[in-house]
Amino acid sequence: MRSYLLLFALCACHAGPAPTPPAKTMTHDRHSFARPDQVAVRHVALDLSLDFDRRIAAGTCTLSIDRTDPDAPLMLDSSGLDITEVRDAASGTPLSFSLGEVDAILGQALRIELAETTTRVAIQYATRPEEASAMQWLTAEQTSGSHPFLFTQGQSILTRSWIPLQDSPGVRVTWNATIHAPKSLRPLMSAIRSGGNAGQGWTFDMDKPVPSYLIALACGDLVKRDVSDRCAVWAEPAVVDKATAELEDMERMLSACEELFGPYRWERYDVLILPPAFPFGGMENPCLTFATPTILAGDKSLVALIAHELAHSWSGNLVTNATWRDFWLNEGFTVYLEQRIMEHVYGVERAKMEIALAMRGLAAELRRLPEPDQVLHVDLTGRNPDDGMTAVPYDKGAALLRRLEEVIGRAEFDALLRSWFDTHAFQSVTTADFEEWLSRQLLAEQPNVARQVDLGRWIHAGGLPADAPTPHAAAFEPVDAARQQVAEQKNAAALADCDDWTTQQWLRFLDGLPADATLLTALDEARDFTDSGNSEILAAWLAIAIAADYQPAMPRLKQFLLEVGRRKFLVPLYKALLAAPNGKARAMAIYRQARPRYHSVSTNTLDKLLDWQGP
Ligand code: BES
Ligand code: ZN
Repeated sequence: MRSYLLLFALCACHAGPAPTPPAKTMTHDRHSFARPDQVAVRHVALDLSLDFDRRIAAGTCTLSIDRTDPDAPLMLDSSGLDITEVRDAASGTPLSFSLGEVDAILGQALRIELAETTTRVAIQYATRPEEASAMQWLTAEQTSGSHPFLFTQGQSILTRSWIPLQDSPGVRVTWNATIHAPKSLRPLMSAIRSGGNAGQGWTFDMDKPVPSYLIALACGDLVKRDVSDRCAVWAEPAVVDKATAELEDMERMLSACEELFGPYRWERYDVLILPPAFPFGGMENPCLTFATPTILAGDKSLVALIAHELAHSWSGNLVTNATWRDFWLNEGFTVYLEQRIMEHVYGVERAKMEIALAMRGLAAELRRLPEPDQVLHVDLTGRNPDDGMTAVPYDKGAALLRRLEEVIGRAEFDALLRSWFDTHAFQSVTTADFEEWLSRQLLAEQPNVARQVDLGRWIHAGGLPADAPTPHAAAFEPVDAARQQVAEQKNAAALADCDDWTTQQWLRFLDGLPADATLLTALDEARDFTDSGNSEILAAWLAIAIAADYQPAMPRLKQFLLEVGRRKFLVPLYKALLAAPNGKARAMAIYRQARPRYHSVSTNTLDKLLDWQGP
């Protein structure tokens, strides 16, 4: 038996709640002012009231701390918060505090002087409407109903804009919260719902240590539909039935993942479908994935996103990147797991097509990224960690794991991965931790693997190693032939036999389609792309339509940009506009109107892209 199998066998005896082991290597997180090596926060207790009229959350945050250095202050992260008072929670004695200089990316350090006996610190504070960059307060018009809506997005370093805490993925906390909201609205959080009601406040409990970026809140007119005894879909009433039908395979995905990678440790797995302003496809908030409604295509064709967020319950939420330069440990592992879930539930052809599409996206991204940003262990010093969200950590990361699987065999690789999760459960890990662990578990034992996989090159060099496995998706052969034919003939004749094409085939078809208005007219007549109800197909089509100056699609483009806030769709569309004739003016005309409807994650990126100077 190889040593990692033995390790796994040993770990399997330790069932039951996991203790909070310290991060294995204490590495400095350049994106946090916290000094957990001196004073570390272990538990966060929130009591917040939501004021939708003023767009403010206000209340107290009580932090339980572990003091390694008895003379050191408590150093926290904060951004744009109104801090009114800090007290020793036990004695009620006021504690003096100060805010550091504002850093445009990191916000402000909050330094709290501790009394000798202080073990709990209560901070009274309020968020500010324009400065709480994690929060998006939506008007009723931005929802599918007649009530306003609020949600938070913590990753990467936005939690500090609505909770003062140690906002580093290397610091893990248990937490609980009481949320007071208007009677007609229902708050939900990334934890177990432990009770409460509209009168006394709703309560939530997270008894597993999690990094701060996974604390999330949403509040709106929300209802629930059960999918199994541990899975449910939450959404606004007008959306919930469609969403439940789309996500009916959630429990199958969850069981598949458990079978492959070990027990699900978070009790419940629910999905909350947000209004379309949500800036991401999905966010893996524990117990309650947040997801965009743009995955509701009506035919389950975009549910890989749910497989992805679910997979984070192992890679990311259970075993967490210790700093943002280790982000590939979250996302690369998750994309690999996502692909395995998709294969398990929807078959190998579907998985192959999705991998092939991702690898084409990666190749395109590698062509535009500077060499240092093509590295898995990327240097993000002085930059917003969101800049690291490229296809590199996702798809190059997953390709490395597929390569390891290819070399050592699936059964052994599954056991290896499972032992990675079990031995690092509820810990935050660095890239060096991974390299050391893999050397010990695998490379030292099997020198032939070390010879076949140049791990150092995969992790620390740019480009994509030539041994990156890309599956051949046979279902794309007729698609490539059809694309070539329509391009040559400038008509849709080659699309006569494609009624049974899947979404993945259509996406492949659109990738590389010539931007020619005559051709687009013919294709639109044949297949009605401009009216597609599938957001991925529509977004790809609209980008080509802009490049071709295909006017009939422009009203739909404007409507899409005004409604959808998902950055992944917005960026290519605004980029395409900028590259078109008179593009800057056209982009700005739409952006001026749309910008107030987007989350700060999206405006941050788009402001730079469009050189936004204010209204
Ligand atoms: N955790 C990410 C979202 C994220 C990353 C937010 C970095 C902030 C900073 C989430 O799991 C994710 O990767 N979402 C993807 C979908 C996925 C299928 C690739 C998205 O939103 O597009
Ligand atoms: Zn992810």
